[in-house]
Amino acid sequence: MSDSIIGAGPRRIDGRLKVSGAAPYAADHYPDNMAVGYGVFSTIASGRITNLDLSEARRSPGVIDIYHHGHFPSLYHTPSSMMQGNKVEETRLPFEDDRVYYEGQFVALVVADNLENARAAAYKVKVSYDEDQAIANLDQGVKAHGTQKGKGNHSRGNPEASFAGAAHSIDYTYTTPVETHNPMEMHATVASWRGERLHVYESSQGVLQEKGALAKIFGIAPNQVEVESPFIGSGFGSKLWMWPHAVTAAAASRETGRPVQVVVPRQQMFTTTGHRPETRQRLRLATDDRGRLVSIRHESINTTSFTDQYVETCGSVTKSLYSCDNVLVSHETTRVNRGTPTSMRAPGAAPGLFALESAIDEMANEAGIDPLEFRMNNYADRDESQDLPFSSNHIKDATRQAAEKFGWSKRTPEPGSMRDGHEIVGYGMAACNWEAMRFPCDARVSLRADGTAYVTCATQDIGTGTYTIVAQAVSDVTGLPLERITVKLGDTSYPEGPLSGGSWTTATTLPAVAEASRKAIEQLKSHATSGKGEFGDVAAEDLSFENGQLSHNGRSMNYTEVLNAQRLASADGEAHTGGADTSKYSFRSFGAHFVEVRWDPGISNLRVSRVVSAIDVGRAINTLTARNQVEGAVVMGLGMAHFEATDYDSRNARPVNNNYAEYLVATHADQPEIDVILLDNPDYEFNEYGARGIGEIGITGMAAAVANAVYHATGKRIRELPITKDKLM
Ligand code: MOS
Repeated sequence: MSDSIIGAGPRRIDGRLKVSGAAPYAADHYPDNMAVGYGVFSTIASGRITNLDLSEARRSPGVIDIYHHGHFPSLYHTPSSMMQGNKVEETRLPFEDDRVYYEGQFVALVVADNLENARAAAYKVKVSYDEDQAIANLDQGVKAHGTQKGKGNHSRGNPEASFAGAAHSIDYTYTTPVETHNPMEMHATVASWRGERLHVYESSQGVLQEKGALAKIFGIAPNQVEVESPFIGSGFGSKLWMWPHAVTAAAASRETGRPVQVVVPRQQMFTTTGHRPETRQRLRLATDDRGRLVSIRHESINTTSFTDQYVETCGSVTKSLYSCDNVLVSHETTRVNRGTPTSMRAPGAAPGLFALESAIDEMANEAGIDPLEFRMNNYADRDESQDLPFSSNHIKDATRQAAEKFGWSKRTPEPGSMRDGHEIVGYGMAACNWEAMRFPCDARVSLRADGTAYVTCATQDIGTGTYTIVAQAVSDVTGLPLERITVKLGDTSYPEGPLSGGSWTTATTLPAVAEASRKAIEQLKSHATSGKGEFGDVAAEDLSFENGQLSHNGRSMNYTEVLNAQRLASADGEAHTGGADTSKYSFRSFGAHFVEVRWDPGISNLRVSRVVSAIDVGRAINTLTARNQVEGAVVMGLGMAHFEATDYDSRNARPVNNNYAEYLVATHADQPEIDVILLDNPDYEFNEYGARGIGEIGITGMAAAVANAVYHATGKRIRELPITKDKLM
């Protein structure tokens, strides 16, 4: 095996297709005779539809049909099982009945001959409602009907008693708002029935999951459904599971007998395709007189919808990051009139570490210890929640390296004590943490007679670089250069691959691809050493294969000649690899963020001016795309810290900033200098490449690092995200 391509930094092999506009996204497909569906969306958040006046819309040009709860085919409920591959988050089927559970819910779908006609007619549908008092936010939900027990809860020792008798303690509550995924590419479906077969183009992080869900909902066998999603303009979690628009498109296509396209407008990307829910988290921590943690309680409540329970597992990291005998982690939910929440980049950990790592900073201050030193003294050496060793944990090294590069030693502890002209400088830090997961995977590799390799796997590249790292793995095993490797992903007709989520794609897919490559080489050798072959007198295991050459005792032949001589199109390998064995090790990734903020009290201006992040994800397969992932996550974390919040009118639960203009995300001008240190400690307990995955960890802890720096600059502790300037005045 050549070691050079793994851990190198080649550019994305699909980059040219994307920047030249040649990469087809879901809504770029226009099958013959395609009709277009446009939604009519509820303008109330809770109540019943009393009347739908369709008369004007029906007369509108080009209208083919209008679907709604009184006119829609009967569908089957999906059991929503991730393990059975048919999960959806919003389990209520569209147009199921006359109920409205959230503003922006599909109440009708107009199908017309083109987008303009469908949209024009949709605006003419008049809906009357019987409106109920909506539950608009977490406080209202708790007050109205309390909470339900969540999942992922944990307890050990006696946190209550150890808190009561401790030398130092804190008890604070932190809140995070709803955040909405805003991928560039909007959700879109193009559905076509061909007889009893359903074909779908979707912007999806999981084509197999969508296939399984559609098969259930339409009552057909999974092999009657094909889903394609070769290019995705990102998803951040919102495209893990199928949403109602896809069901409406598929149903409308079956009813009309035409392919139907449905694109979710940007405003309804805020309502009907998931969001990160609002959270309220109470942190109670206590230490002994030397600053060792003796009690940790992390109790969180998140908002969910009236149709489904989605649990934001804010305490998932709290269970194992710090060493402590007495720990309680609990999750509860409360129902509000919003759409069903879903995973958003580092679900649980992103809001959870804002609270935990802010609280750790407050705890360190209370105990009179430097926050970096406090963490170093308290980091766990093993996973105490599962009583297992970590497969690999270099958080102390990551923290030291980042601290050194950042210049933490220059920090003077007193808030507001570091002045630079008219600005006050603040230094803050926080840990990052994310579980490493790996699932079963299939892949197929063909070494072709034309000198190329062709790889297929039904996982997706959501913009993270999966195409490129898959090619790297094939190149690593076969010695073929990247430009001779064709990678095909995002199609349910390929061997089963993982959902692109949870940062598990790399760790899951690469071992299968490498194994399939080795099997293809084995088959090549068996062809070469067969009776008719050039190496007919050699045992297959004595033949070597390097850089496309088959050799034995000074005799050498390019593999394409071997295949061509036997008129074989290719030598093929298929592999199935398993998931992680979680019985012996706890697999997690670690890291640390160091943030400098500059606060100008004269004009109340606050900015993040510098970030140093050290990340330990085992081996980074591609240092260029890995660095991109961390930089992107840091910027998204900065957005979480300062800008992102979907606001709802407390009187009626309607989102008030459901558009790109008023929902603020970090822009180029907000981006500081970002210095990413990628530690390189391959985790061979996890897989042969030692890679744990890198998509999510960079956002975890980032908002806390900013909050801690803001406290250091201003003396104000902001426990409510986002940290907007008005909160500092
Ligand atoms: Mo990620 S939130 O699992 O796309």
